Amino acid sequence: MSHPDKAETGFGVYVHWPFCMAKCPYCDFNSHVRHQPVDQQRFAAAFARELATMRERTGQRTVSSIFLGGGTPSLMQPQTVGSILDEIARHWHVPQGIEITLEANPTSVEAERFRGYRTAGVNRVSLGVQALNDPDLRRLGRMHSVEEALVAIGLAREIFPRLSFDLIYARPDQTIEAWREELARAISYAADHLSLYQLTIEEGTPFFNLWKAGRLVTPDGDHAAALYAETQEVTARHGLPAYEISNHAVSGAESQHNLVYWRYGEYVGVGPGAHGRFIENGTRTVTITERHPETWVQKVETGGHGVVEEEFLSGEQEGDEFLLMGLRLVEGIDLSRYERLTGHSVKEKRVISLAEQGLIEYVGNSRIRTTPEGAIVLNSVIADLAA
Ligand SMILES: C[S@@+](CC[C@H](N)C(=O)[O-])C[C@H]1O[C@@H](n2cnc3c(N)ncnc32)[C@H](O)[C@@H]1O
Ligand code: SF4
Repeated sequence: MSHPDKAETGFGVYVHWPFCMAKCPYCDFNSHVRHQPVDQQRFAAAFARELATMRERTGQRTVSSIFLGGGTPSLMQPQTVGSILDEIARHWHVPQGIEITLEANPTSVEAERFRGYRTAGVNRVSLGVQALNDPDLRRLGRMHSVEEALVAIGLAREIFPRLSFDLIYARPDQTIEAWREELARAISYAADHLSLYQLTIEEGTPFFNLWKAGRLVTPDGDHAAALYAETQEVTARHGLPAYEISNHAVSGAESQHNLVYWRYGEYVGVGPGAHGRFIENGTRTVTITERHPETWVQKVETGGHGVVEEEFLSGEQEGDEFLLMGLRLVEGIDLSRYERLTGHSVKEKRVISLAEQGLIEYVGNSRIRTTPEGAIVLNSVIADLAA
């Protein structure tokens, strides 16, 4: 059985390292703190096994990017990273020079391992800087100071060909002026890529409880929209325009791995709580693995993989996901691909109506994208198009 997308859209490998030194009070990623040392050799062996199982399912493919995310992958020994990368290259074709990213926290202990990661094959680091002032770093529960972050940035620039860092904005009490100044400073340290996320209050986190009790106040809708607009303006003026809702880059420095997701490509996901989406027997298959790290290892050791949930997507579901991912991108989406995936076109009346409201625009014959106004109400634009 063939699929309209086969071999067109990139093939990424995502590896999830689920441990952190401390749990940040805003974070609901699958991250866990352990007070005993983690048995990295045992985890490395489990990654190797799950990768082998995924290889059986995908067949031989050419990898377009690798991403080691977390949690905090910079808590891995370089040797652990090296063994995972070697396994990936043993199973699939990994061309020279593809993007291999590792997420790192900018503490001094982790920065000491940077050279080891480079030797292991990592060529891009994504640093979780989050803020460039110490009071906010403390409020965010971070384990590093601004000074440590700047040292880590400097070192990363020396060691890795490519570097990005994350900041969280729309923090409690953050003024437009303070953010403008902090962002301009960040751009002066950034190489060519920045991820700028608005603080979201996630249910189940300590921030959620504080927020519900009225003890943590985040910017209201208008202020958040003004901070977002300021972000777009400052980054564009400094040559790092948005290429996605929260991601900014010098042209050509976009994250290849994230583009695989947003262009609705294929990827395998290994490690606790990882998601994958790849075409198997002509159907786009979703895999989700066990979230709890030690349970995941046991499952892999006994059954060869930790997958606990699987879904086989219909063309209609693929169409919805394609819109959801692609309309985040400034390059927008090709409507003819929507047609190939679903077997029918997007309703023209709806496209015209959204265009008249100034929420989407045509970029070429069959391409559309959201306007800056549309990006703010993205979910309702997608719901409207997919209805
Ligand atoms: C997987 S996380 C972590 C990477 C690394 N462990 C760190 O904290 O530096 C990726 C990014 O998501 C962002 N993030 C996590 N939780 C968030 C939240 N509640 N609101 C906004 N951004 C968040 C942070 O900027 C973080 O760097
Ligand atoms: S933000 Fe990063 S360091 Fe903090 S808990 Fe989440 S994954 Fe771990």
